[in-house]
Amino acid sequence: MSAIDLLMKNESMLPEVYKKMTDDELTAKISRVKKALGSDLYLPGHHYQKDDIIRFADAAGDSLKLAQLSAANKEARYVVFCGVHFMAETADILTEDHQEVILPDMRAGCSMADMADYRQTERAWEALTHQFGDTIIPITYVNSTAEIKAFVGRHGGACVTSSNARQIVTWALEQKKRILFLPDQHLGRNTAYELGIPLDEMLVWDPIAEELEESGAPEKCRVLLWKGHCSVHENFRMPHVEHLREKEPDRRILVHPECTWEVVQASDDAGSTSYIIDQIRNAPDGSRWAIGTEMNLVNRLIDTNPHLDIISLNPYMCPCLTMNRIDLPHLAWALDQVEAGKPVNTIRVPEKTASDAKKALERMLELV
Ligand code: 13P
Ligand code: SF4
Repeated sequence: MSAIDLLMKNESMLPEVYKKMTDDELTAKISRVKKALGSDLYLPGHHYQKDDIIRFADAAGDSLKLAQLSAANKEARYVVFCGVHFMAETADILTEDHQEVILPDMRAGCSMADMADYRQTERAWEALTHQFGDTIIPITYVNSTAEIKAFVGRHGGACVTSSNARQIVTWALEQKKRILFLPDQHLGRNTAYELGIPLDEMLVWDPIAEELEESGAPEKCRVLLWKGHCSVHENFRMPHVEHLREKEPDRRILVHPECTWEVVQASDDAGSTSYIIDQIRNAPDGSRWAIGTEMNLVNRLIDTNPHLDIISLNPYMCPCLTMNRIDLPHLAWALDQVEAGKPVNTIRVPEKTASDAKKALERMLELV
């Protein structure tokens, strides 16, 4: 059943009663149910979740850590995933059959993951293998649907996260002459460039026009970039960097590699959410930072590091709207339903898709 079908069904909609409860009531409820469920419940949370949710997380992490933790946890009967849909799918694929994964709000999707659908990918593969022969290995950012991971698994490729993209792309280019990198062109371009591949050896596949975008010299091409992006990170732009460079040249600019190549090149450093957190954790007192990533995380870094001067690279930045769908009412409802033995919003990836997607995820987990 698609997410839209699910949303049309009443049981995936938040009951009114939770909308009327105060934050204090919801917080008390969540604390009580969490305690009552004990080790039957596991609650992972991505760093982009808001503060009032992440405080309940048994573990907070980036996409790699959350995938590793999901694979390691064999005990919890229920995994209530505070993140977005593709992360909950990954958890479902990596957990055991007796474990149920729940996403408190089914509307917590990811616009980047939606930029590569299965049929587009099949058509792209047909065209690209026709043009380049058997020289391509597909790689997908974990920010993709289970179907795309399954496609990659079936074709001998692997998943990557922003923490391990360099290792996996290096491995992939040892397997075949070319990679097809889905669905984030920016992470793909930034990673390949960091590995020493020049821009003129990369081409962009446009899944709507069904063609390679640049004319370039196809025979030289080593990296085929899917034309997808993160609508949050694309809001960090060159004028933001240029403004800071001019006004505050001593402020270090640290961005996520989902930002464009130009922004990453013009910044001082780039890395995954965990990398950004580590850099701030080890920053000298009084140092000045501009961070280019999702706002819930940037605000948390500002609040928890009063000895540093931290701002967002884009002063008008908003949080990721879909990450923000996970809120106190939805978490309280999801936990109530688990306690009542009637879980809602369970994520179940079909068996064949899950087993192929698992190949791509396990290849990644073995390599890092
Ligand atoms: P990481 O936490 O792996 O850096 O991912 C960032 C992101 O955009 C998740 O949606
Ligand atoms: Fe998707 Fe970007 Fe939001 Fe991450 S921050 S969930 S990649 S839209």
